[in-house]
Amino acid sequence: MAAYETQTHEYDVVVVGAGGAGLRATLGMAEQGLRTACVTKVFPTRSHTVAAQGGIAASLSNMGPDNWQWHMYDTVKGSDWLGDTDAMEYLAREAPKAVYELDHYGVPFSRTEDGTIYQRPFGGHTTEFGEGPPVQRTCAAADRTGHAILHTLYGQSLKNNAEFFIEYFALDLIITDGRCTGVVCWRLDDGTIHVFNAKMVVLATGGYGRAYFSATSAHTCTGDGGGMVARAGLPLQDMEFVQFHPTGIYGSGCLITEGARGEGGYLTNSEGERFMERYAPTYKDLASRDVVSRCMTMEIREGRGVGEHKDHIFLNLMHLPPETLAERLPGISESAKIFAGVDVTRAPIPVLPTVHYNMGGIPTNYWGEVLNPTEGDPDATFPGLMAVGEAGCASVHGANRLGSNSLIDLVVFGRAAAIRAGQVVDRASSIPSTNPEQVDKALDRFDAIRNASGSTSTAALRDEMQRTMQADAAVFRTDKTLAEGVGKMEAIAAKLDDLQVTDRGLIWNTDLMETLELTNLMPNALATITAAEARKESRGAHAHEDYPERDDANWRKHSLARVEGNKVKLDYRPVHLEPLTKAEDGGIDLKKIAPKKRVY
Ligand code: FUM
Repeated sequence: MAAYETQTHEYDVVVVGAGGAGLRATLGMAEQGLRTACVTKVFPTRSHTVAAQGGIAASLSNMGPDNWQWHMYDTVKGSDWLGDTDAMEYLAREAPKAVYELDHYGVPFSRTEDGTIYQRPFGGHTTEFGEGPPVQRTCAAADRTGHAILHTLYGQSLKNNAEFFIEYFALDLIITDGRCTGVVCWRLDDGTIHVFNAKMVVLATGGYGRAYFSATSAHTCTGDGGGMVARAGLPLQDMEFVQFHPTGIYGSGCLITEGARGEGGYLTNSEGERFMERYAPTYKDLASRDVVSRCMTMEIREGRGVGEHKDHIFLNLMHLPPETLAERLPGISESAKIFAGVDVTRAPIPVLPTVHYNMGGIPTNYWGEVLNPTEGDPDATFPGLMAVGEAGCASVHGANRLGSNSLIDLVVFGRAAAIRAGQVVDRASSIPSTNPEQVDKALDRFDAIRNASGSTSTAALRDEMQRTMQADAAVFRTDKTLAEGVGKMEAIAAKLDDLQVTDRGLIWNTDLMETLELTNLMPNALATITAAEARKESRGAHAHEDYPERDDANWRKHSLARVEGNKVKLDYRPVHLEPLTKAEDGGIDLKKIAPKKRVY
């Protein structure tokens, strides 16, 4: 067993990750008096939520009529009927409460003339169960909403005595007799190892966008929670559904918020045509993201892309009043200047669909409790473990997430996890004692990676993985690209055994850290491409050219991927079709959300 200087900590709850979901969970736990630690590999306000621009969806009705049932309908349709009905109801119903709480905690939302929270239109958000005009449902703090939320939640968590362990990298979960009892971490600035024993561990580690070559995600989005869960033998759910945001800046992938189209921006092709009018006559540029990304890709394929290589599209904002740009979209005006050299008042922004969000993740119920489905019980939970935010899959986004439903997912389910923990964590019970075998196992793995002396560099292998995922698990997929992709990814994953880590140090060793991150990205990527290859239909973000239609009879089910080495075993669990509340008790009329053709 490898010898490392180790310190032990004891908490009721340990939250891993300090983005929107992690901080909302941390705050909610601490507010209830649970002894709460938040362990994070980056400073909390540098978590990727800081990059969320356009806003957070909730049916506040500040700008016109709206209600939670319309929000739920849009979410169901956006998910292409793969989301779990109970979780989607919970999201839409709890959203207004969660946003008002943020407001009271101090999030500096933009305001209307009347002083209420300003809301803008976003793609796929409509009125009258998809029959009415677009709704202004997305609450915004200019185009820096995530930044505002993170700073507020971090301050509130400190005020409520949550304890932060900043720049600690989570290595592995501690599993004792079929329950999670803690997590082993590496402290980056002094090289020590920290064992956190806890009654509940909450994974809030974000997505794995960096499995792809071009992503709006930060370089830190490496699916660390999914990696740890896969190593613990637990499944990942619906990994084949990867969202491409229509407007990443061409070349850099930097996000230009959908709020830009919400405020009146529109896309054009090389003929200057507003092509979305052809594909989505009602909602046009405000159709849902998967639809817009596919339409842009088709325009480019058919030779109507812009630029020297006709390989991207223009986003036009020149016609917007300068005060709208200054007040509502200051951040993206700056990003366009820096990353595309474009003055948005004078020229269009070159954009391209760019990997943005993982609908799949660690399966949970709507309380954030991690599922470990068995043959007899598809909803069986794994004790002591929760997952929230992009790391988790509740599943409210199904096959495609609506813009601004991510920030609301973070706070609604971060909050739900705290409420649930308040019910199930017994404050009087003793904290699980250290499980030495599990700690040794985690440290042996850490030590083996630290001393890896093969012939493949981490950067080279990561590049191979990212290019393969980009090429073979793209906006459009075919049997051929997916089958080739699975073969390539299995070979790439096998090369993890041949890695070379050149720096053996323990303090600020970025080579080691990036290698650990790569070992987390890999199972996420493998699960994604394998589940995509198996799904013989088109649904939401999974656009399969050999099976262009959605097939509810055979495929309205969640995929479950268990990763073993460089292979993935697939299984499925049913979609929850029952709402939380019956129609006669004030719930949604199920006829309203029955599957139908998805047109915008
Ligand atoms: O376009 C955006 O502002 C992104 C929002 C989201 O992904 O929810």
